Amino acid sequence: MSNILIIDDDVASCRTLQVHLNGQGHNISLAHSVEDGLKAAQSEIDLIILDIRMPGRSGLEGLPEFKQLLPNCRIIMITAFHDMESTIEAMQKGADDYIHKPIDIEELDSAIDKLLVNQGQDDDLLSASSNDANTLTMVGRSRGMKEVFKTIGMVAKSPATVLITGESGTGKELVARAIHKSSETPDGPFVAVNCAALVETLLESDMFGHEKGAFTGAVGKQDGKFALANDGTIFLDEVGEMSPSMQAKLLRVLQYKEFTPLGAKTAQKTNARVITATNVDLAERVQTGEFREDLYYRLQVVNIHLPPLRERKEDLIDLIQVLIGRINKELHRNVSHISRATLDALEQYDWPGNVRELENVLMKSIALSRGDTLSDDLLPAQLRQHAASADSESKPLEDCSLEEIEATHIARVLEATNWHKGKACETLGISRPRLRRMIKHYNLTTPEQFKNAGDDEEESLTT
Ligand SMILES: Nc1ncnc2c1ncn2[C@@H]1O[C@H](COP(=O)(O)OP(=O)(O)OP(=O)(O)O)[C@@H](O)[C@H]1O
Ligand SMILES: [Mg+2]
Repeated sequence: MSNILIIDDDVASCRTLQVHLNGQGHNISLAHSVEDGLKAAQSEIDLIILDIRMPGRSGLEGLPEFKQLLPNCRIIMITAFHDMESTIEAMQKGADDYIHKPIDIEELDSAIDKLLVNQGQDDDLLSASSNDANTLTMVGRSRGMKEVFKTIGMVAKSPATVLITGESGTGKELVARAIHKSSETPDGPFVAVNCAALVETLLESDMFGHEKGAFTGAVGKQDGKFALANDGTIFLDEVGEMSPSMQAKLLRVLQYKEFTPLGAKTAQKTNARVITATNVDLAERVQTGEFREDLYYRLQVVNIHLPPLRERKEDLIDLIQVLIGRINKELHRNVSHISRATLDALEQYDWPGNVRELENVLMKSIALSRGDTLSDDLLPAQLRQHAASADSESKPLEDCSLEEIEATHIARVLEATNWHKGKACETLGISRPRLRRMIKHYNLTTPEQFKNAGDDEEESLTT
C-alpha cells in the first residue's frame, strides 16, 4: 500500500507503530532522529510520522527540510497533549495533521486514511516561514478545540478573512487574538470594534474616521479603527448587528481594500487583516433579509466554530487550572486547592455563559474565599442548587490539590462507568493508552468485580 517513514527517538514506540501499520499493509521504515530521517527520506515515501520532541534537532526544526526534500509527501506531527503553540507552529510550517501523544491508534489510522486518500490535492494554505511561539494561553483537549487550534494554524499566515462563530463567552476574541499573534504581522496593531455597541453614525466614524466638521461635534479630524489597524488586524465583533448601510460599506472595504472617512472626498487604502465574530446565526439572518448574502460569503471564507462549553466538558479541568492561575495573578492570591464538592458542582452545571461564566464564577469565589482552598459554599446559588439536585447523596468533602483534580476526576468517571474503560475514555475525551497510564500513575486500583470491564481492545502504545 503506502510507504511510511516513522521518525521518533523512542525505539519502543516506533516498533509498536511499525507492527500496527505493517498489519494495515503499509511498508514502514524507521528513523530515530531528524538527521537519520533526512537520510531515510527517499522519494517513494508517501507519509512521514514525525515526533516533535527529540534530542538534537526537534521535529519542528526538521519539518521545513522534509517539506523541501519531499514536497508531495504528507506529514503527521506527534505533539505533546496541551501544547497549542507547537501545534499551530507545526500546521504553519506545513504539517498536514497532528496527533497527540500518547498515540490513540484509531485517531492515527483515521488521520492516515484521510491523508492518503486526499493525496495529490493541494490544500496547503500556509507559508513555510517560521513564527515565534506566542504566549496566548488557550487550552482544550476536546476534539472540537483540537479542530479550532488546527484551523488557526492553517489560516493565520494567509490574509483570508475569518469568521468566528460560537455562543457568547466561548472564546471568540481569544481565537481572533491567537490568529493575530500567529499572523505575518504579530507585532502590528490588533484593533477591536464592537459593532453592536454604537449607533450607526458613531460606528461609522469609529470604524472609518472623520474629517473636521463632518458632523456636529466633529471638532477635529480623527482617524478611525481601519486606519489604526493598518499593518495589523481589525477584529469586528458582533458583525451580525451591523445596519444595512454599514454592511454595504464593509463589503466595499473587503472588495476594494479602501474606505472613505466621514466628510472626506477621497478614499484611503487599508491593508488590515479582517477577522469578524458573531454569536447569531448569520445564515438565518441572510434568509430573513437582515444580512447581505454577498457580505456573508465574503466574511466566511474561513469559518472557525467554537462549540459551547456544555458540549466539551472534558475541557473543564484544563480551563479551571488556567483560569485560577490567571485570577490568582490578578487578585494577588494563591488558591491551589479546590474541594471535591466544588468540582462536582462545576462539572454538573450547564454553563449557558460558557468560559466567560466559568471565569466569573471562579473570580467571585476566589475573591470571597480565604486561604488557598475553594469550597462550594462560595459558589453562586444556581450552581449549588444544580449540584444539590443532581447529586443528592454527596459525600463528605475531601480536599485535593489542583494537580490531584485530574486523579479525582478520573476515579469518579471510572466509578460512574463501572470501570468500563471505553466509556470512561469517551467521557474523559482521552485515549485508552492515556487512561491506562493515568490509572497507573495515580495508583487507582480496579475493584475486583470490574477487572477486564471494557478492556478488550488493542495494547498500549504509550511512550
Ligand atoms: N480555550 C480557552 N482557554 C483559556 N481561556 C479561555 C478559553 N476560551 C475562553 N477563554 C477565556 O474566557 C473569556 C471569554 O472569552 P472571549 O472574550 O474570547 O469570548 P467571546 O466568545 O468573545 O465572548 P462574547 O461573545 O461574550 O464576546 C476570556 O477571558 C478568555 O480568555
Ligand atoms: Mg467577544
